[in-house]
Amino acid sequence: MGILAAGLGGSAPNLRSFRLTLIEQLTQRLREAIAKIGAEGDPLVRAAHDEQFGDYQSNCAMGIAKKLGKNPREVAAAIVSNLCVDDLCEPAEIAGPGFVNLRLKPEYLSRRLAAIPPASEGSMDRLGIDPSGRPRIVVVDLSSPNLAKEMHVGHLRSTVIGDCVARILEFAGHTVHRENHVGDWGTQFGMLVAYLRRVKPEAVADADRLVIADLEAFYIEAKALFDADEDFKKESRDTVVALQGGDPATRRIWQAFCAESLRHCHAIYDRLGVRLEDRGESFYTDLMTDVVARLESTKRERPDDAFVSVSDGALCVFLEGFKTRDGAPLPLIVRKSDGGFNYATSDLATILHRVEQLHAKRIIYVVGLAQKQHFEMVFAAARQAGWVADDVSLEHLGFGNMLSTRGTPFKTREGGTIKLKDLLGEAVESARRVITNQEADEASRHRGLSGEEVERIAETVGLAAVKYFDLSHALGSDYKFELDRMVSMEGNTAPYMLYAYARICSIARMAGVDFRSLPACTILLEHPSEILLAKRMLQFAETLEVVSRELRPNVLTDYLYDLAKAFSRFYDKKLGVRVIDAAPESVRISRLRLCDLSARTLKLGLHLLGIETVEQM
Ligand code: ARG
Repeated sequence: MGILAAGLGGSAPNLRSFRLTLIEQLTQRLREAIAKIGAEGDPLVRAAHDEQFGDYQSNCAMGIAKKLGKNPREVAAAIVSNLCVDDLCEPAEIAGPGFVNLRLKPEYLSRRLAAIPPASEGSMDRLGIDPSGRPRIVVVDLSSPNLAKEMHVGHLRSTVIGDCVARILEFAGHTVHRENHVGDWGTQFGMLVAYLRRVKPEAVADADRLVIADLEAFYIEAKALFDADEDFKKESRDTVVALQGGDPATRRIWQAFCAESLRHCHAIYDRLGVRLEDRGESFYTDLMTDVVARLESTKRERPDDAFVSVSDGALCVFLEGFKTRDGAPLPLIVRKSDGGFNYATSDLATILHRVEQLHAKRIIYVVGLAQKQHFEMVFAAARQAGWVADDVSLEHLGFGNMLSTRGTPFKTREGGTIKLKDLLGEAVESARRVITNQEADEASRHRGLSGEEVERIAETVGLAAVKYFDLSHALGSDYKFELDRMVSMEGNTAPYMLYAYARICSIARMAGVDFRSLPACTILLEHPSEILLAKRMLQFAETLEVVSRELRPNVLTDYLYDLAKAFSRFYDKKLGVRVIDAAPESVRISRLRLCDLSARTLKLGLHLLGIETVEQM
């Protein structure tokens, strides 16, 4: 994926052509042809929608013709006659008003597949895809639950999407800081510390040994007391003051509480295979003072500018384009009239830290769409304050809600929040049922599995089902948590994908070969199903390129689904070719190689979604 990120048009393209993705390579050739006819314009190469018109299509002739005042088909013809793609494509064809259609040659696909190095033991299989030539420092702000309570279903999406995005950017060669911006500061913590003092005095004496089995219940009890008991309310408030004033005893209990709550979170992260660094809101307390001080000095420097002003006693930032419902300017409050800081102050502080201390060039906040306006305003404020250079991108990767099967907010029957660990447990349970209840011929494959192996597979498949289902939806839309669909073996689901992978592993077993030690061979692509499969595999790199740029995990799930379908077609007795019993040997080896490359592509693709594969299902 390196080259697109680094910009096309390198000075020695031929030396590095195999490092280009298919689409990059075609783009480059078209760019050369456009230059040869003395025109200017983006090559606009896209994958063709309909195979009938080839594999890729360039739509550049229309725009260029318009600029030159010429007939688009003539421009297309001029481009095509200057286009050198003999080594890659069949002769280009012109269609409709001036589309240039390109169909890749099987020999070219075959050469590219042959150039993929074998998987190396130990290190990650990259399938020959180079990291970006321009690595950057990236921050992904993900998960970020509130430590006062148990993680609930609302945190699933941020965790899973954030992890996927981080994995893909890491694979692309960037340095990624995975920031878990947990809520560990604020008035609730005064209440919780005060409650701990009352009900667990032993924790006060030995804070490091604090255990709270049910955080949610603990919070609910504390809150009930807070609402009912004036003395406790006062005690809680005094505790907040002591905490914020840095009183050592209070801080120690608060720290113990946060550590215990983080242990609950990390049990889930470990189970999900998600790595991240905890850096909670409390980390930013000094920086928040800094945020306000800097804004105040801006106010002094620009007294006539309404950018920073005091309104009703609160320090506010006014930004162009943000209005209240009645059309009045909408302020972003950075210091409340009581002198306290708020969510906006803390997120401005995250920007200062990430830009100035982590030196990040791309900062991605994976947070629900409900906070869209918050981030728009915070980003605009930071830019207007001059804290963020033009080469730094601030991105809110917003996502929709996970809803119940009825399309309502996802709650327990009593209206409470559903704990994330319960939900994961349910998914694993369903996966176990699906795995152990398959059709007779499938079941026969189970004979060799021990109870322990079934458990391990159920755990992998269940968690994969939840993640895959989440990632396969367009980020911005809501989706319903439908367990039956998630764990279904049919359709664009994790079990289908994992099964496709396991099936290829079983081909190796049936053929009595180890894919890793197949002899080097020419990859023969003759049958349409072989050609399609080869093309799909080679489109992996450009798919990752799109995902790393646009941060849309569903582009990767769609791709993997297409790949799995292409494999199914290839391996189908009627639509595809013989594999295990193919002859002569050169054909058999070539087809087994295609199996191996398909499996490796599926495995790597799933891994980048945060999903591990199993060899048997
Ligand atoms: N703790 C916040 C919440 O539960 C999410 C924080 C997201 N990250 C951020 N930098 N604002 O809504």
